[in-house]
Amino acid sequence: MRYRTTVIGSGYLGITHAACMAELGHDVLALDVDADKVRRLNDGELPIHEEGLGELLRRGLAAGKLRFTTSYREAADFGDVHFLCLGTPQRADGYAADVSQLDAAVDALAPHLTRTCLVVGKSTVPVGTAERLAGRLQGLAPAGDRADLAWNPEFLREGFAVADTLTPDRVVLGVRTPYAERVLRAFYGPLGEVPVVVTDFATAELVKVAANAFLATKISYINAMAEVCEAAGADVVRLAEALAHDDRIGGRFLSAGLGFGGGCLPKDIRAFMARAGELGAGEALSFLREIDAINLRRRDRVVELARDLLGGSFDGRAVAVLGAAFKPDSDDIRDSPALHVAREIQQRGGLVSVYDPVALDNARKAYPELGFATSATEAARGARVVLLLTEWQEFVRLDPAELGAVVAGRGIVDGRNVLDPAAWRRAGWQYRAPGRP
Ligand code: UGA
Repeated sequence: MRYRTTVIGSGYLGITHAACMAELGHDVLALDVDADKVRRLNDGELPIHEEGLGELLRRGLAAGKLRFTTSYREAADFGDVHFLCLGTPQRADGYAADVSQLDAAVDALAPHLTRTCLVVGKSTVPVGTAERLAGRLQGLAPAGDRADLAWNPEFLREGFAVADTLTPDRVVLGVRTPYAERVLRAFYGPLGEVPVVVTDFATAELVKVAANAFLATKISYINAMAEVCEAAGADVVRLAEALAHDDRIGGRFLSAGLGFGGGCLPKDIRAFMARAGELGAGEALSFLREIDAINLRRRDRVVELARDLLGGSFDGRAVAVLGAAFKPDSDDIRDSPALHVAREIQQRGGLVSVYDPVALDNARKAYPELGFATSATEAARGARVVLLLTEWQEFVRLDPAELGAVVAGRGIVDGRNVLDPAAWRRAGWQYRAPGRP
């Protein structure tokens, strides 16, 4: 079944969802309040770096199956299914999520909804939000009860957004009516055989934050082991390799290093703690405070490793930072551990030169006080120490002899545990990495 669909909010999630749903055969109108962004998207210009998404966007536009607008009235007229893909960042005044963009979208859309339709939330939200928005929607919409709401969380990873959307592990449908379930099952029919879990609103909302909290816990777990390895003179990379052979543990998300960042994991575990506290279940998630603390400690540890290589001080020393994005294959610098470390070193007197294959523009705009280079070699030229902080393939493949020829001191901190220590040491480098002897 083909649906006339709108996607409210053209950020990472919205653009991906809109282009992928057009690819599945639906007619899609996506909305954003930023007129300049809408114009660029209608011209086929993708504002983010995401493998394969640009082609999908331009294919959808060319086929007339995808379009972008700033008009809520047009969206309401156009769509029978409306997806809410707004951002829910951490609030400036604490750990909780800021859901004001979602509220504003419902307030703007609802007064134009005059016929039967389904509004589907995809954003990551504090549990209870769907219930509240359903009341707001039906109170404001001329269609009243005929404007139904559902919650359908998104699990895509940046860098794999298209594949994760077109071949998801599972589809979670939080619904209150048979109508909502029927529409969403038909809507996602073109995905083929995918496990579908149908739940109430609260469970659907929780699945998303529970998944991200689990992933964050797994990363901080191995990073806690890295701290113990450092104290004991053991090697966390070999430890993780051995753990991974146990199927019950598994090797994915068990890479020790600089820890997690980005627009999701850090803010999601904090918002989860804040919401659990409001619900009187704060104790159940108190361990997440430790997960967050372990993660942030890793950034300090990497700074310390670099300082040790410099004999105790950054003052006036040239330092090369390889990586600005929060992870490879992305230009996203939100809560990037790499830039956190770069700024810390700069604040302690280091002369930092940052290079990243795609996130350089974003990094430069956000932190103009840092130094930037246009290649790894340029960043490393004259440096007393080099830090690898985002594991782009081009950094993993760096030749220690070639890089050794341009630096002023052969010290390397492998913040992501992706280099071969023996090869770098053979080439005369002092090699340091979190969790390794
Ligand atoms: C994360 C989840 O993986 C997605 O399932 C979820 O849909 C998404 O958040 C979201 O909430 O929208 P993403 O933020 O794109 O996806 O990034 P991840 O691949 O999860 O990586 C997060 C961070 O963890 C990165 O900084 C990465 O470098 C770090 N990481 C990952 C590690 O330090 N070690 C690992 O073993 C794995």
